[in-house]
Amino acid sequence: MGGRVTDLLLTPRALLRRHLLAPLAAAAGRPLPSPLRGQVVLVTGSSSGVGEATALEVARRGATVLCVARRRAELDRVVAEVRSEGGEAHGYTCDLTDASAVDALVQQVEAEHGRVDLLVNNAGRSIRRSLELSYDRVHDFERTMAVNYFGPVRLTLGLLPGMRRRGHGHVVNVVTWGVQLKAPKFAAYIASKTALDSFARIAGRETWADGVTFTNVRLDLVRTDMIAATDAYRRAPAKSPQQAAAMVVRALEDRPVTVSTVAGRVGEVLNLVAPRLSDAGWGWAAARVPDSEAARVGADRSA
Ligand SMILES: NC(=O)c1ccc[n+]([C@@H]2O[C@H](COP(=O)([O-])OP(=O)(O)OC[C@H]3O[C@@H](n4cnc5c(N)ncnc54)[C@H](OP(=O)(O)O)[C@@H]3O)[C@@H](O)[C@H]2O)c1
Repeated sequence: MGGRVTDLLLTPRALLRRHLLAPLAAAAGRPLPSPLRGQVVLVTGSSSGVGEATALEVARRGATVLCVARRRAELDRVVAEVRSEGGEAHGYTCDLTDASAVDALVQQVEAEHGRVDLLVNNAGRSIRRSLELSYDRVHDFERTMAVNYFGPVRLTLGLLPGMRRRGHGHVVNVVTWGVQLKAPKFAAYIASKTALDSFARIAGRETWADGVTFTNVRLDLVRTDMIAATDAYRRAPAKSPQQAAAMVVRALEDRPVTVSTVAGRVGEVLNLVAPRLSDAGWGWAAARVPDSEAARVGADRSA
């Protein structure tokens, strides 16, 4: 709740809409529509997890949702679910690590829909593996950068000229609280998400005057396929994909600079004011949660 208030204080227009205009309109019997109504929203990684839940929620708010991922059958399932609820959705298969496929995607969606108003860079790959098991695995670092950084950067650069020309656009990056916490065993994953987080912060400064804004959503643990391989997370408290999607939708509607959790902010402050104490605490905690079996044998869907 505290976080929400802070977010709204950072976005006065959203504050006005949510706390003044919306109650007045509701009292007059004419509820305000979501700012997403009539918008074209592209969501990557919408074949499962947080992206799937986001696509459904965005469509419920009256947007046309463009679902992007590699698995055709899963995309078809999500598109069918949106349509069964009366929403509008279209599926596009694309491997975000394939540069020419990303360029072709940009051309196709702009040709078929005229524009993309809002982009959600949600597709991602997580690896939890200690450095001790990574000395001969530079490819872990290359693969996470390919999906979590270069793919979304290429897609964003492809869609930005149209957004800036129209004077209207927003990009939401689904990153992780790891950007704030810097948790051991996540060097490859968190470094790639931190790169995207920084890219967005700087891009937003360049495009703000053109009406194009960026939000980084620093999610905490979410119960999806991504964390399934890590035993330690079986009993850990985790959000549902729907709860995580609510944070993404809020970012789309309100356009704050960041959306994050209280725990993420506390970790960020500790890293600033007591970095060595934080190192000691994290080192102690990490030693008690060893690498998963999946990390030892080389699988990499472990958050
Ligand atoms: N789960 C968590 O605890 C957690 C915490 C913090 C942040 N996050 C972030 O939340 C986002 C969503 O993850 P999730 O938890 O919902 O996991 P998920 O269910 O595994 O979803 C990952 C999505 O990314 C897509 N994807 C992966 N590689 C791709 C590629 N090369 N090209 C195109 N699409 C690709 C997958 O679709 P296809 O396989 O069909 O391509 C899938 O739809 C990720 O960015 C993740 O880093 C998750």
